[in-house]
Amino acid sequence: MARMPNSLMKTFALKGNLLYTPGPSCFESFPGHYLVCEDGHVAGIFDILPARYDGIAVEDTGGALIVPGMTDLHVHAPQYAFRGLGMDMELLDWLRAYTFPEEARYGDMNYAERAYRQFVDDLKRSTATRACIFGTIHAEATLLLMRMLEETGLVAMVGKVNMDANSPDDYVETTADSLAETEAWVRRSLSAFRNVSPILTPRFVPSCSASLMTGLGSLQRKYGLPVQSHLSENPGEVAWVRSLFPDSTCYGAVYDRFGLFGNGGPTVMAHCIYSTDAEMALLRERGVFVAHCPQSNVNLSSGIAPVRKYLENGLSVGLGSDIAGGYSLSGFRAVADAVSVSRLYWRLVDDSCKPLTLPEAFYMATKGGGAFFGRVGSFEAGYEFDALVLDDALWPSLRPLAPEKRLERLVYLGDERCLRQKYVQGRKIFG
Ligand code: GUN
Ligand code: FE
Repeated sequence: MARMPNSLMKTFALKGNLLYTPGPSCFESFPGHYLVCEDGHVAGIFDILPARYDGIAVEDTGGALIVPGMTDLHVHAPQYAFRGLGMDMELLDWLRAYTFPEEARYGDMNYAERAYRQFVDDLKRSTATRACIFGTIHAEATLLLMRMLEETGLVAMVGKVNMDANSPDDYVETTADSLAETEAWVRRSLSAFRNVSPILTPRFVPSCSASLMTGLGSLQRKYGLPVQSHLSENPGEVAWVRSLFPDSTCYGAVYDRFGLFGNGGPTVMAHCIYSTDAEMALLRERGVFVAHCPQSNVNLSSGIAPVRKYLENGLSVGLGSDIAGGYSLSGFRAVADAVSVSRLYWRLVDDSCKPLTLPEAFYMATKGGGAFFGRVGSFEAGYEFDALVLDDALWPSLRPLAPEKRLERLVYLGDERCLRQKYVQGRKIFG
């Protein structure tokens, strides 16, 4: 379908085996049904198309599965180039040995263009229809990343990273430059794109001085910006934050005192593995989203986030790849890994924390993380029309399976080859 303004967009329907999770407890399944899109939103699910839709375009996907698009709630675009390498360290050593030297290269626009091209092409072909993305400290390269993402039709929030403390000499900013360049970048990017928008991105507390965070808090209020960062990921990191801000009740309270913890705009914090009860209460009080990144948490031996407790406490939880702590952009892998690590947590750490079920993990990947972008990640009427058409022909089963079982197999066995089509806000972006 050609891209056109929403108001002119045709009403159309996809026919296939529809599956989604309106809540975390179970899949809703509509085999052989029509999913109608009007003006970029889900109009409804029908077994027979009502007469008012006579004459609309209908695409019959045959036996395909149709599921909501997924949100990658935490991913580092400049780390894509070294994914699958350097999985032999804990967080703080890994940042110094692998991450900062790689991110420093993005001061070179030629390198940035080549590396971001790979990331953007692969993200377009992934399970994600939405993403919250970290760039580097470089404003120009971050704008380039935003322009490239805009061309894909994906919806993304992208952050120029802020770092003025405890960072290598060749990958650090002065406080004044960091704030001035961030404000200039926000102004340039706020209304430049249709699908891509800026998100404030203090890297994490140790790399941001108190004056930088004070300034970022002012920018948050001035422009009403969303915020993303890292929280309570690794024991050494948590101890470091405690030594930097000894009078804070918890790590999250440091962001909070600077107005960077959901006090004004939507906020998402990655990891939250070592959050205390006080931090959990603050996350809940401020409506801060948790981006659970199980694959990264295993690779960097960070730990296992007690996601069951977060769900029971009413926190908003989505899933992130955390490339390149994680090595895979696949939302299927994130769902499978979320279930797997929750099973280990239950067995090895706390047998009162029941393992996550597949619908719960799928819910986090779709509606849970999608909520950061609004009414996203479900096929309920009124939700934005983000959809994946999945073909499991490459993974044939010897006996017939219900749609839920076919989806379960794809979560564990599937890869990007099963993605036949992807729709974002009613626009087909490939297939
Ligand atoms: N904490 C601060 N920076 C990073 C990063 O790049 N990745 C992860 N996983 N944690 C961080
Ligand atoms: Fe991260």
